[in-house]
Amino acid sequence: MPIAAIYGPDDFANRPQDQATSSPVAPSRTAPALPRPSLEWTSDVERATAPIYARLKHVIPPIEWPLMAPTVHAINELKRARNAVILAHNYQAPEIFHGVADIGGDSLQLAVEATRVKADVIVQCGVHFMAETSKLLNPEKTVLIPDSRAGCSLAASITGADVRLLRERLPGVPIVAYVNTSAEVKAEVDICCTSSNAVQVVESLNAPSVIFLPDRYLATYVASKTNVKIIAWKGACEVHERFTGDELRAFRDADPSVQIIAHPECPPDVLAEADFTGSTAHMINWVRQRRPKRLVMITECSMADNVRAELPDVEILRPCNLCPHMKRITLSNIMESLLTLGEEVTIDPALAQRARRSVERMINLKN
Ligand code: 13P
Ligand code: SF4
Repeated sequence: MPIAAIYGPDDFANRPQDQATSSPVAPSRTAPALPRPSLEWTSDVERATAPIYARLKHVIPPIEWPLMAPTVHAINELKRARNAVILAHNYQAPEIFHGVADIGGDSLQLAVEATRVKADVIVQCGVHFMAETSKLLNPEKTVLIPDSRAGCSLAASITGADVRLLRERLPGVPIVAYVNTSAEVKAEVDICCTSSNAVQVVESLNAPSVIFLPDRYLATYVASKTNVKIIAWKGACEVHERFTGDELRAFRDADPSVQIIAHPECPPDVLAEADFTGSTAHMINWVRQRRPKRLVMITECSMADNVRAELPDVEILRPCNLCPHMKRITLSNIMESLLTLGEEVTIDPALAQRARRSVERMINLKN
């Protein structure tokens, strides 16, 4: 079924103009000093990082490794000193994903893993809404994001005030928010979802209509998989909305045997050309199981490197769309984050309590 209606900022004459879209980030607390590590390429560093390079050798040329390895080594030492864990999204660069992360995954896996963390400090290698989700689930822990400017076009497309206006316009219709939203938005909705569980979450509400925000394309994909009437919001992912059906047809014309997999944040004409559609974790599992010879991955570019590091026999072709927000996280700022305990993510406790309920409701659905 096509989406039933779509709303956006222009549909509300009384929409407040000036609003925060994310919770404030406090200045870094004063961290007990740790000595600044030496970043020299020594035989000790080479030996200590050899098992890591063995995982990365298909995606990082040998000439580049001596430039990265000292920082990778320093981060792994600092994690022990700080009793910290690093959570990394599938879109992080391979030297982060395979080099320093303790846990990697899609948005749902990272949220679930955040509930199980025992360490004192979580460093979120991803974007700001992911760090906020980790903080919501770990109010007592120190949650850091190496660069708080790592935003998301979806999270920036809607505010808590917009959700209140939607509720006034459509009273009684339950609201599902994609996790790619600020804590302020999560606090106003009934439940969250990720691209892994969006259809399941919508159907769990047992309602004839559901407001699904803010991704218009994920909403369209969900509407195609359910009989629930979907009312959408005019947000889009700036990375996935750039793909086109023509681009995919050109890949297929060049090699009819190629397999194409795509993320549901892509427009419908792109998904119509794909052999499989799923969240980043579902895409990775599909590749692990099918092991296609040649594959086109229609999603953020770094994920192809992370999959190739694990499955070098799969030849991956990619129109390389990078997420500028994900790429704000680097080895250097992860190291700084561990040295200074910055930038710490904080959320107003009353807001956090309401936002946490929406995230926990989604996580509990799994069981
Ligand atoms: P998933 O990893 O949940 O599929 O999300 C993709 C994404 O764009 C996250 O920002
Ligand atoms: Fe947001 Fe798209 Fe970047 Fe994911 S890839 S963080 S949805 S802009």
